[in-house]
Amino acid sequence: MNKSENTMEKKLTDEVMQIMIITEDIKYIGVNDCTIDLFEGMYAVPEGMAYNSYVIIDEKIAVMDTVDEGFKEEWLYNLQRVLGERKPDYLIVQHMEPDHSANMLCLIEKYPEIIPVASQKAFAMMKNYFGTDFEGNRIVISDGDMLSLGNHKLLFLSAMMMHWPEVMVTYDHADKVLFSADGFGTFGVPCCNQTPKEWKAEAARYYFGIVGKYGIPVQKLLSKVVGLEIEKICPLHGPILTGQIDEYIRLYDTWSRYQPEENGVLIAYTSIYGNTKKAVRLLADKLRNNGCKKVIVRDLARCDISQAVSEAFRYSKLVLATTTYNTLIFPPMREFINWLCERNFANRTVALIENGSWMPTAAKHMREMLEGCKGVRFAETPVKIMSALDEESRKQIGLLAEELLAKE
Ligand code: FEO
Repeated sequence: MNKSENTMEKKLTDEVMQIMIITEDIKYIGVNDCTIDLFEGMYAVPEGMAYNSYVIIDEKIAVMDTVDEGFKEEWLYNLQRVLGERKPDYLIVQHMEPDHSANMLCLIEKYPEIIPVASQKAFAMMKNYFGTDFEGNRIVISDGDMLSLGNHKLLFLSAMMMHWPEVMVTYDHADKVLFSADGFGTFGVPCCNQTPKEWKAEAARYYFGIVGKYGIPVQKLLSKVVGLEIEKICPLHGPILTGQIDEYIRLYDTWSRYQPEENGVLIAYTSIYGNTKKAVRLLADKLRNNGCKKVIVRDLARCDISQAVSEAFRYSKLVLATTTYNTLIFPPMREFINWLCERNFANRTVALIENGSWMPTAAKHMREMLEGCKGVRFAETPVKIMSALDEESRKQIGLLAEELLAKE
């Protein structure tokens, strides 16, 4: 170890280093970002964000992806601790987004003999990011290709458009580990022994926020991995998944088919002076008092929109309540519906509540925005509020509650 590495040894304590043993030959060398507020500048991450990276040690050594630019020193140090006196042979690049590829060049500078292994599309992106595609010192992989490290035989599977086009995932036959790129990732820092139930709250927010538009590519990938014997899933974000692997895959299958995860109602609303909010409360009370066990209410002007989006995908029914605004609809509701439509919202019952003191047009606009969503069935009961609840609108809310309760 040279002088600068000795200094690093002092600076980085065991608490901040994240070397974990995945299997005897596979080590975790990722990093945790505990200060980040917004991932991708948009998604709140109160529990931080992990950039995962792994090393497979065999006759040959493979590094699986790098980490975010801000963690270069910590990551290189983690890597060196795992390598000891050895040098890595391959850098396998599964995904080129900079949170995973930013440290490619510094790794190659430190270990000039390392060979990058990636899809053709990934190498094209490297040219854009780094000015080189490593022609002459690279291995280009395609769907179904294998790379032997010795005992560990790596199978590469294309996950094209699992939100980016160059994505590959990697299956290690020896230890039955699936390196899943961003798939099965989540917000927060890794924590062992999470159950699928604990994992899925944030994983669904991550999935529907970042990957949700790409259900068909995710289905294609699932059809490839379904025949593999998988004991662990190592994603590029969040915890390593062990045990109940079938349940994680079942959740991904449900999400990527755009099917509701459970029977329930999300009521998403905006309210300017509180009258639409009163209508929403009345509807929620009627649903709960008549046996609906899952009723979630979100004020779109105040909640985390990615949370509300994941809940819209989770439940079988969605109620949208808003006001006319600038002859259209209140902006947070418009943004929410845009998020849903961009992510191929489908296969749900949608009910509309509109409030308009002198020009109630919100229901018409909401309906128009959602009309292209496949399998969306609009509730038949209209609810129109003219400024504040009155006898007629209360009656409509009662009828809407009955209609929603009668639907699956
Ligand atoms: Fe975690 Fe798509 O990058």
